Amino acid sequence: MSGGLFRLPRPERVEVAPGAVHVPGWLSLERQRELVTVCREWARGPVPIHRTVLPAGGVMSVQTVCVGWHWQPYRYTRTAGDVNGLPPAPFPDWLGELGRSAVAAAYGDAAAAERYRPDTALINFYDGAAKMGLHQDKNEKSGAPVVSLSIGDSCVFRFGNPETRGRPYTDVELVSGDLFVFGGPSRFAYHGVPKVLPGTGEPATGLARGRLNITLRDTGLA
Ligand code: SIN
Ligand code: MN
Repeated sequence: MSGGLFRLPRPERVEVAPGAVHVPGWLSLERQRELVTVCREWARGPVPIHRTVLPAGGVMSVQTVCVGWHWQPYRYTRTAGDVNGLPPAPFPDWLGELGRSAVAAAYGDAAAAERYRPDTALINFYDGAAKMGLHQDKNEKSGAPVVSLSIGDSCVFRFGNPETRGRPYTDVELVSGDLFVFGGPSRFAYHGVPKVLPGTGEPATGLARGRLNITLRDTGLA
């Protein structure tokens, strides 16, 4: 985390919209380092990190690797038909546990945390000018919350509403180690990353440049 000596203290928890909670600095440096290491392993395969090709022919600027289920526009599959045909790495139990701790931290609701059973992780790497347009996460058949973990360069995360791509929305700065959970009335809100702020990451995470975002989701598929 950069920002110099005079960075103001950050709040513990901010409800950005109903059911959408930002928890600054939730991941310890040690946990960020572990996540960077395991994401590097997943990036190698069985389905390597790739730029997803969109049906209209465009290519996403982020690089993505999936765990548990493979995501391609606009569905989840058991194998990566758009990459190399292999199944992604299995979703590990410890990542589900981390998701339950994240829901507990965001909502302070032990019962909601206990029933959270994510089965997929989408890992996006933002390099150079990569960004993500406003969209809804709506390929899941479950209304369970999305847990988002950020490591590396800070970004502007735009979080809106479920009805329109436009206002009202809030621009939140997500810094290395931050947690953002969106569920309940905000589960299907539009969101995106209009800008990454290069050079703002913390090299001690093991990520020398760029931004890593991990989202945990429950696909609702069996
Ligand atoms: C996403 O919307 O899937 C990724 C969001 C982010 O990178 O923070
Ligand atoms: Mn999304």
